[in-house]
Amino acid sequence: MASRKMLALSLMLSLAAAWEFPFRVSFPSANTSGQKVLDVGESGRKPLRIAIIGAGAGGSSAAFWISKARERHGVNVHIDVYEKENYIGGRSTTVYPYQNASLPPAELGASIFVDANRNMARAVKEFNLSLVDFGNDDGDLGIWDGTQFVLSTSGGGWFGWLDSLKVMWRYGYTSCTRAPKLVAKMIDEFIGIYTPNISHWSTIEEIGIKLGFDNLTSQTGESFMLSQGISELYIHELVEAVTRVNYGQNSDELHALMGLAAMAAEGAHSVAGGNFQVFEHFLSASGASVHLNTTVAGLRKTTSSSTTQWFVSTSPPPEGNPIPPYDHIVLATPFQSSLITLLGSPATFDPPVEYIHLHVTLVATKAARPNPAYFGLKAGSTLPSMILTTYDGVRGDPAAPEPEFNSLSYHGLIRPKDHPDGPEWVVKIFSKDVVKDDWLEKVFGNGNVGWVYRKEWDSYPKGVPTTAFPPISPDTGLWYVNSFEPFISTMETETVSARNIINSLFEAQYGAGLCGPNKEVESDEGGWGGVGADGKIWGWEC
Ligand SMILES: Cc1cc2nc3c(=O)[nH]c(=O)nc-3n(C[C@H](O)[C@H](O)[C@H](O)COP(=O)(O)OP(=O)(O)OC[C@H]3O[C@@H](n4cnc5c(N)ncnc54)[C@H](O)[C@@H]3O)c2cc1C
Ligand SMILES: *[C@@H]1O[C@H](CO)[C@@H](O)[C@H](O)[C@H]1NC(C)=O
Ligand SMILES: *[C@@H]1O[C@H](CO)[C@@H](O)[C@H](O)[C@H]1NC(C)=O
Ligand SMILES: *[C@@H]1O[C@H](CO)[C@@H](O)[C@H](O)[C@H]1NC(C)=O
Ligand SMILES: *[C@@H]1O[C@H](CO)[C@@H](O)[C@H](O)[C@H]1NC(C)=O
Ligand SMILES: *[C@@H]1O[C@H](CO)[C@@H](O)[C@H](O)[C@H]1NC(C)=O
Ligand SMILES: *[C@@H]1O[C@H](CO)[C@@H](O)[C@H](O)[C@H]1NC(C)=O
Repeated sequence: MASRKMLALSLMLSLAAAWEFPFRVSFPSANTSGQKVLDVGESGRKPLRIAIIGAGAGGSSAAFWISKARERHGVNVHIDVYEKENYIGGRSTTVYPYQNASLPPAELGASIFVDANRNMARAVKEFNLSLVDFGNDDGDLGIWDGTQFVLSTSGGGWFGWLDSLKVMWRYGYTSCTRAPKLVAKMIDEFIGIYTPNISHWSTIEEIGIKLGFDNLTSQTGESFMLSQGISELYIHELVEAVTRVNYGQNSDELHALMGLAAMAAEGAHSVAGGNFQVFEHFLSASGASVHLNTTVAGLRKTTSSSTTQWFVSTSPPPEGNPIPPYDHIVLATPFQSSLITLLGSPATFDPPVEYIHLHVTLVATKAARPNPAYFGLKAGSTLPSMILTTYDGVRGDPAAPEPEFNSLSYHGLIRPKDHPDGPEWVVKIFSKDVVKDDWLEKVFGNGNVGWVYRKEWDSYPKGVPTTAFPPISPDTGLWYVNSFEPFISTMETETVSARNIINSLFEAQYGAGLCGPNKEVESDEGGWGGVGADGKIWGWEC
């Protein structure tokens, strides 16, 4: 039957997963008189049951953190992961140019992360994956305002251009040195989250305050940077170029934390063969049962004598027996677009978070560079291989055209220069509207486009300045990983959010968090000393 698909990803750790204790171990105060075991009623030897909805960065890492916690607690936990698509990775997925699997795959969604993203970097190591540095072919870059290039630089590699003389000349020494320092400071502060010092939080507002970021999320990138003495021109051109490519928003729309995160692209890389492999490995290491092609349509909560149970209804429905209820639900996808109906629960996910609707267009082209004519340049002009954009043309003149795309970047050769049919490149275009075939012909030249792939995403939140975020636990036994997204939306931060949620879930269930009953570290003091010096990452280590 073509219905629910069970993927036996649990091979690797199936033994550990099947490990049953003769008695359910309760923490912190198991009642050894054996009459009434704490609050989970008569569940006795039955495993704790957790359903995760969504197999992206958030859901797959949640399963992984559960497997770590389960081992440290010595408890039996069954994990089901429901995913409506037929692949693992969510907004992190790849396609092959020409659907040809012997060509290098291109990232269609999340493409880069940095070394400061310690969970991603650690996972790559643990799972024996390899990295490829991210960069455009020649490190040349232009910033287009819809009418003209306000800046173009050559060489220096991805973000090397930030320190080029030309950039200093245009934007001034102060802005050019201060802005990177603000980014570095933000990263330094964020790193605390990987130490026992900041091991848990119960609201996003709380983690904002703990990290000292509340002042960043409550104002736009523009207003924050102006207050730090960065020039308006620098903000509207350089900062905006990266906020538009990374978050599809302008510097005066996006809050300052996402603005700084967008600028933190130094030393960026991606996983060779696709970032989604990290998430496949998280799931296989977790021993979870993964149900692909299975949409969760509804959640129903029942409460009887202090026991909360959650019933999951899926489309298509399960073959055979109905799905037994769960003790916990981990929602790892944005609630509004999940279209899940809630019954018997007063949960709200307010304030609602709007997502940017983004068009991603991948193109294979014989054109070594875009066509100068489209940009109003004379024939023979050499265009940069990475074109970012600014809204500043429209700010200066409301009648001026807005750039027709957010970014356009060359991503390497798929046919070598000495090929009899000539070289061919893959180009990625982000835009607010659909990019039509005739537009591609204008930009790359007639007959130069060999393959086109279009994808629309509800990509990332509109990062409007705010002081209120969705709840981490909207109801008893219901946990919301994507509450973190309007704070910062990246693959890494979804794994960080999942870690906090699994820590809180184990706290609530067993009275001790991710690190287990014996190794619980005193939180909010002490820490591990020098960050990174010992290579430990809280959650991976305890
Ligand atoms: C074009 C683009 C570029 C990006 N670039 C970067 C980047 O370079 N670096 C970076 O770190 N981040 C980037 N991001 C952001 C990053 O992709 C996200 O922050 C992150 O991947 C979100 O992970 P998630 O697991 O929370 O959600 P998702 O990856 O969206 O996973 C949620 C999953 O839930 C499934 N689902 C939804 N509803 C249901 C349902 N009812 N039942 C069952 N399953 C359901 C979905 O199919 C999906 O697989 C980019 C995003 C986009 C779109
Ligand atoms: C342990 O069980 C006994 C017998 O049912 C009960 O009287 C006592 O309150 C329980 N103690 C705890 C801590 O639950
Ligand atoms: C998922 O469903 C689609 C359409 O119903 C089907 O073509 C595809 O083979 C299924 N994939 C898996 C992995 O079950
Ligand atoms: C796929 O790409 C390889 C490598 O470039 C090429 O040799 C092969 O002919 C391509 N296959 C198809 C079906 O086009
Ligand atoms: C990674 O490689 C090491 C050393 O070769 C090996 O011990 C380990 O099992 C590998 N891990 C995975 C997930 O393949
Ligand atoms: C918050 O930002 C404003 C600038 O908008 C700045 O003046 C103020 O000093 C900041 N406060 C803190 C605590 O950083
Ligand atoms: C943890 O907090 C303590 C006390 O506030 C501080 O001395 C220490 O440097 C912090 N550790 C890290 C790794 O941030």
